[in-house]
Amino acid sequence: MAEITLDLRGVPKRQAYAELESHIDAVLEGVRDEIAEMSTVSALIHHGFGHLWTGFYRVTEPGKRLLVGPYQGTLGCLEIAFGSGVCGTAAAEGRSVVVPDVNDFPGHITCDSRSRSEIVVPVRGPGGKLIAVLDIDSAETDTFDDDDREALERIVQRFARS
Ligand code: SME
Repeated sequence: MAEITLDLRGVPKRQAYAELESHIDAVLEGVRDEIAEMSTVSALIHHGFGHLWTGFYRVTEPGKRLLVGPYQGTLGCLEIAFGSGVCGTAAAEGRSVVVPDVNDFPGHITCDSRSRSEIVVPVRGPGGKLIAVLDIDSAETDTFDDDDREALERIVQRFARS
C-alpha cells in the first residue's frame, strides 16, 4: 500500500504530476471499479494540490445531463445540463476546458463563491464513450495550464480500458 499522504504543494508541476500519477497507480493497483477509482483520484488530486473542489460529474443522460459523482470539497451542484457552465461545455464539446478566470466565462456555474479558476477534462469509458467529466476548481486565478490539461487527460485514461 502506498503512503497515504501526498503533498504536492510547492513541487514543480511536471514533477508533481509524475508523483501523483505513480501514487494513483500504486493505490489503485488491481482495482477495476469506477466509483472506487473516481473517489481515489479525486482525493489524491484534491489534497495533493490543496484545490478548492475536485470531482467527477457523471453522464447519466447522454447528451443531456451530468449528475455529481465522487468529489472532495464543499457541496457541489447536483445536476448540470450539457452545454451549461464549464462542465456542461466540456461534456457537450467533448474537449478539455481551461478557465483562467471564471469571471470571464459566461454561464459559469458558481457552487462555491471562492472559485476563481478551473479546469474540466472529459472522461471516456471503453470504446471512447463519454462517461463523466473531471472538474477541478481553484481559489486562485490562473491555476491551470496545458501541463495540467495533459496530465489530467492522461490520468483519466484509466477509465477507458476495458
Ligand atoms: N464550476 C462548474 C460547476 C460545478 S462546481 O464548481 C463544483 C461549472 O461551471 O461547470
